[in-house]
Amino acid sequence: MTPEEAKERIKQLTEELNEHNYRYYVLAQPVISDYEYDMKLKELEKLEKQFPQFADKNSPTKRVGGQVTKNFPTVKHKVPMLSLSNTYSIEEIIDWEKSIMKLVNKPITYVLELKYDGVAISIRYKNGEMVQAVTRGDGYQGDDVTPNVMTIRSIPLQLRGNDYPDEFEVRGEILMPFDVFNKLNEEREDIGEPPFANPRNAAAGTLKIQDSSIVAKRRLDSYMYYLIADKRPFNNHYDNILKMGEWGFKVPRPENNFIKKATTIEEILDFINYWDKHRDDLNFGIDGIVLKVNDYDEQEQIGYTAKSPKWAIAYKFKAARVETKLLSISYQVGRTGAITPVANLEPVHLAGTVVKRASLYNADYIEQMDIRVGDMVYVEKGGEIIPKIVAVDFDKRPPGLPKTEFITHCPECGTKLVRNEDEAIVYCPNEWGCRPQLIGKIQHFISRKAMNIEGIGDETVEQLFDAGLIRTIADLYELKREQLLPLERFAEKSVDNMLKGIEKSKEVPFERVLFAIGIRYVGETVAKKLARHFKSIDNLQKATFEELVKAEDVGEKIAKSIIRYFKDEHNIEIINRLKKHGLKFSLTEEQLQNMSDKLAGLKFVVSGVFHDFSRDELKHLIEQNGGRVVSSVSSKTDYIIAGENMGPSKREKAERLGIKIISEKEFEKMLEE
Ligand code: IVH
Repeated sequence: MTPEEAKERIKQLTEELNEHNYRYYVLAQPVISDYEYDMKLKELEKLEKQFPQFADKNSPTKRVGGQVTKNFPTVKHKVPMLSLSNTYSIEEIIDWEKSIMKLVNKPITYVLELKYDGVAISIRYKNGEMVQAVTRGDGYQGDDVTPNVMTIRSIPLQLRGNDYPDEFEVRGEILMPFDVFNKLNEEREDIGEPPFANPRNAAAGTLKIQDSSIVAKRRLDSYMYYLIADKRPFNNHYDNILKMGEWGFKVPRPENNFIKKATTIEEILDFINYWDKHRDDLNFGIDGIVLKVNDYDEQEQIGYTAKSPKWAIAYKFKAARVETKLLSISYQVGRTGAITPVANLEPVHLAGTVVKRASLYNADYIEQMDIRVGDMVYVEKGGEIIPKIVAVDFDKRPPGLPKTEFITHCPECGTKLVRNEDEAIVYCPNEWGCRPQLIGKIQHFISRKAMNIEGIGDETVEQLFDAGLIRTIADLYELKREQLLPLERFAEKSVDNMLKGIEKSKEVPFERVLFAIGIRYVGETVAKKLARHFKSIDNLQKATFEELVKAEDVGEKIAKSIIRYFKDEHNIEIINRLKKHGLKFSLTEEQLQNMSDKLAGLKFVVSGVFHDFSRDELKHLIEQNGGRVVSSVSSKTDYIIAGENMGPSKREKAERLGIKIISEKEFEKMLEE
């Protein structure tokens, strides 16, 4: 093939594939088979390799990904990504509509849309080409995830037609379809990775994957619902949305009732009712309905609060609920020995996913609700995650069902269980002989917030444990190459990575080591406070109960737990070995020098975007100087360090409570004084 011919063929294939892509992913009306599509794509790939000079920057071959992004750069949104005010109450929707009518004082057209339960995205186009895709982030700045968004086939790389603005931004939602989600979770369960809680989390997690070829395989989808441009084709929302469809975006269509114009409250309520009933028919999640005023001039007249447009409101559906049969109860043993009862249910469809299990929390929950195996139970999935049993259908209880007796012995090691009365927790006391507890301690130790050991995952820990190579966290530091290489799934490279990761963990600062060793009730924050107060593990070990409770945030329960920890010979032995391996068991000179009590006892809220520091740096400085970072403003807050775009509701609350609002410069001065 001559270069001329190649150029021509590449152009032709690119156009054809773009067209098929649009028909398949946007219109859902394919005209060729998947096989034919793949053949054309392969041909194009081959030609592009042979003649890279003719490859289009936005070629359909880009959809398979391959780019690896180590860190997604933070990008400021030109126009902040607002949220929507929302309500669960029909009355409030009626009131909202009345207030809009009163304000505009002429007949209004509303646009009714689905409220997609995914991840918001803002995508910039220039001269018809995608240039940048940014996540919502905090609304003011988000992450540049362009290479990953380029793999989403319902989002055009190159626009169709020629009547789009030279430069514009579209906003919408990235979704993981239910079928993709269910399959992904099955795969994850197979390899022992924790399943994603819901399609929204899965979509968000997928967008942050470094290797875009993995993203491409996840088959994300999208719907666009907002156009931002200096000059938009129409002066109303509805026509622009349909126009965006002509340019190649996947947009809601009136044919399938995903979008509808309405002029009366009756039409609005009909739409809400329709989708409340039919939401389970969709292959993606919606959590409500969005109402928008159609005309842009009217939108401007109605205006905005700092957080959301006043011309729009979301009606949120109440949690989905189904009835199913409780088949059995199983008991899981956690790393602290706590036993969690789990309900095994007759599989049932609920809000698009198949539910097989539900949490039963603890013994008291089962007792109070009088849940029995064989009962018909109501299962609900709230906005969140793991479904729960909310009630028993007593009318359907078969006669003679025995009352649930909580297990008395550990399902893993057979030890007699103990009940901790204050917390209604039943646990297995066999701390050093019960498999899930031993494994759990090591998994906690390697986890991201603790030692963050690269090259080892939860499954590796199980594998090493079962191979008899590790029983405690100290054993990790004594692993040898020769022991690892014969194991299944351990190639040279993964062994190297693992050993490197273990070696590197010796640099982890004391406060995180203190968190990682897993003293009961010592979380991340308490570990920081303890490190600061006692400065070394030796001091901590020597501390009496009275000395312990003097430290900030340490109450009786934690103090007792620390004493109990150091009384246990196993722990002393482990710590001694870890010390020998060089882990950090005290603060460094540098840490000691940078520490002060200048902010002791003061509580800070950090809000907005800053110039001189990152938020994490600010938080670190506060803690280093004895202050405390809290997330929400209350009467107990002493200072708010306000950056640009601090939320107006926070500011208003601070002013009402008389809390001092300071700039980052003023904060710096506090440290210098
Ligand atoms: S419009 C200026 N329309 O809901 C108005 N948002 O709670 C911008 N969302 O951040 C939003 N479906 O991620 C709009 N049809 C829809 C939507 C929608 C879902 C999301 C969006 C937004 C969040 C607000």
